Amino acid sequence: MSTSIPERFSAPASDSARDPKQSMPRHIAIIMDGNGRWAQQRELPRIEGHRNGVSSVRRTVEECARLEIEQLTLFCLSSENWKRPSHELDFLMHLLEQYMIEERSLLMEQGIRVQVIGRREGIPERVLNEINKTIEITGQNRGTILCLAINYGGRGEISDAVQKIARRIEQGGLTADQVDEQLIAENLYTSGMPDPDLLIRTSGEMRISNFLLWQISYSELWVTDKYWPEFEEDDLHQAMQVYATRNRRFGGLTS
Ligand code: IPE
Ligand code: MG
Repeated sequence: MSTSIPERFSAPASDSARDPKQSMPRHIAIIMDGNGRWAQQRELPRIEGHRNGVSSVRRTVEECARLEIEQLTLFCLSSENWKRPSHELDFLMHLLEQYMIEERSLLMEQGIRVQVIGRREGIPERVLNEINKTIEITGQNRGTILCLAINYGGRGEISDAVQKIARRIEQGGLTADQVDEQLIAENLYTSGMPDPDLLIRTSGEMRISNFLLWQISYSELWVTDKYWPEFEEDDLHQAMQVYATRNRRFGGLTS
């Protein structure tokens, strides 16, 4: 890791003896933002920003696999992105389909297991087919889990979970008293996945944008001004270095 850490991020002396495994995030989630502005800055159409964003995805996925990160979750398309012009949405669908087809062999080589969270409605059938194929083919891999949030919204996810739970109560399989945090977590799209330890956002925006609302309650946040197409391995390393210096108390006191 070649990036140096600013003085104020330096770990307290007592932390320097921490187990290095402990200071590695198990789960990294990324809000990939700024594709459009990256293109605009270069007087290119917005879709060129998305096209270049795929290269950043490839770099980041590869590096997380190399570093043996347990899970990487990428915010690819939000449930609010449907407000965009249809030609941009069509291109995003095309990129998604292409990624699923073209990356398969590389994902297999790296032992990556692909999973998807979000609602399937609105995603064209041919794209869903390629997504399903990739999930199936990579299903036995034991390396990094690449979780793609597609047509994903945090509030929608929570309301879907509440519906599932309410239905079970209606059918008599559950009582209201049995509804607790664990049950809610088990009914989210992310059931069985660890919560993100580190949440990265590009393009300098200080917002969550309806991403993993439930799961990020104690995630460490790291924001870079770089646009997503400019995000490189070194930025990931920098985020991880900063993460390693954070003193996570989860509402308790310093250990
Ligand atoms: C993120 O970049 C990619 C997607 C949401 C699909 P944007 O498209 O949001 O880029 P900006 O924010 O307009 O620059
Ligand atoms: Mg944006």
